[in-house]
Amino acid sequence: MKVAVIVGSVRKDSFNRKLAEFVKKRYNNRFDMEILDLSVLPLYSQDIENNEPQEITNFKKSVKEADAVLWVTPEYNSTIPGVLGNAIDWLSRVDKVMIGKPSWIMGASMGNLGTVKAQMHLRDILFAPGLQSPVLIGNEIYVGAVHTKMDEAGNITDEATVAFLDTVVDNFEQWMKCFN
Ligand code: FNR
Repeated sequence: MKVAVIVGSVRKDSFNRKLAEFVKKRYNNRFDMEILDLSVLPLYSQDIENNEPQEITNFKKSVKEADAVLWVTPEYNSTIPGVLGNAIDWLSRVDKVMIGKPSWIMGASMGNLGTVKAQMHLRDILFAPGLQSPVLIGNEIYVGAVHTKMDEAGNITDEATVAFLDTVVDNFEQWMKCFN
């Protein structure tokens, strides 16, 4: 199963990027995951959406070819970061590559709530007419206090978090059978 992974942080030492890399590595025998680079995406404008830059064509192609999208988002100002909103705006227009494509969401923060508000908003956004992406529900992964649960190399050291991830991955795999 091909999964496009969209990380809402372009920070060099991003916890969310490390979480995405950990998930990709731990479950690489079950999923073919590609972590997409949002830092190369130009700002969305309606003026250029029908004559999109090559970076956008490449980005949309990776999403289009995936069976599902895994969103790994930080929380900025109680919602999703602008960099993620920009990527979503591109995906929601012209060929609307997200329509009908299943989504799975997780996120990490140093605070205790682990991106709960950002994920709530992201779920709602994914139901917008230009996106219409079914979202795996009841299996939210909020990695709070992430700095105490991850080592320098990005390995999750908290056993309870890893066990929960394992369970949710099983549920996600089962759920994906609904789309085949
Ligand atoms: C934050 N951060 C933050 N955290 C949170 O739990 N709720 C929030 O509303 C915000 N708001 C916020 C705004 C801005 C502009 C910044 C830069 C940061 C802290 C944030 O969770 C923290 O910086 C994470 O480490 C960001 O994720 P990455 O880059 O490590 O993946």
